[in-house]
Amino acid sequence: MVMPPAAPNSCLFVSESKRQQTISANPLAMPGGFFNGCHPREGGLGSRVAARAGAPCQGLGCRLATLVEIPAQTMVFRSLRRPLLAWLTALALLLFTPTPAWADFVLPPLPYAAEALEPAIDATTMTIHHDRHHGAYVANLNGLITSNPTLAKVNLEALQGQISRYPVAVRNNAGGHWNHIQFWAVMAPVDQGGAPSPELLAAINGAFGSMESLQSQFNQAATGRFGSGWAWLICKPDGSLAITSTANQDNPLMDLPGIEAGTPLLGLDVWEHAYYLKYQNRRLDYVKAWWSLVNWNEVNRRFAASTQAAIEVDGLSSQFSE
Ligand SMILES: [Fe+2]
Repeated sequence: MVMPPAAPNSCLFVSESKRQQTISANPLAMPGGFFNGCHPREGGLGSRVAARAGAPCQGLGCRLATLVEIPAQTMVFRSLRRPLLAWLTALALLLFTPTPAWADFVLPPLPYAAEALEPAIDATTMTIHHDRHHGAYVANLNGLITSNPTLAKVNLEALQGQISRYPVAVRNNAGGHWNHIQFWAVMAPVDQGGAPSPELLAAINGAFGSMESLQSQFNQAATGRFGSGWAWLICKPDGSLAITSTANQDNPLMDLPGIEAGTPLLGLDVWEHAYYLKYQNRRLDYVKAWWSLVNWNEVNRRFAASTQAAIEVDGLSSQFSE
């Protein structure tokens, strides 16, 4: 059977899967390397062989092209159809899949350089404390999502207030995560933490008599905590200030018996991992040095927010009592 000569505007297209198809010639629709054109005008492999032989191309593609003329745009669409469908499928899954259970808790970076708190806290202690200890709480908490799927839907801070519903492993690691986030935030390099606001200072003087008295009572809470734990300055629901201490990774936000509830304004980590490299067993030295790092700007912000909340609650209660 003698095939008709190749149409001057057709060429051979070889797809990635080596299946041959014909398309009508359209230089604008045939980027180099994507098509293996056979017509002399298109410069494909088949065309080059045919040109050397001084004969029109007789390749299969050229011959088929004379039988089936398919617009180049159609072939381009066909060649892109599979990847296009794959992308559309992926996009649909992304848009319409409910919030995944792997919405992990994240370890935030330190808000300053690891060496920024020296000499009170050395860079090695900060690095290990943040990367390994805080990092471990985050990793452990994420590992608990599978067995406690509601963790994937709850805000970390809100979780503290409902921690009694969860196993002790969640309590320890969720507490450890939140406690350390607040801990990094209430510290700043020396002379960069500002000073207590007039309102906070007035509240401190009213509750403790003086800033020195506050620090003395706070230091007692920090050194008196047996084993590992935290010392806190809190704003109680009635708006008054108090000093308290919690064991392990508990905190004043937790709905647990034996914990004095309040909004933490200032929380100090007295686990040995927070100070042992530099201070060994001298916890009081660590606590005293730590006061030079307090970020009063952050404490002021927390105090203003908590007192506002207390005022709002008080306003509501007075409405109901009238
Ligand atoms: Fe810690």
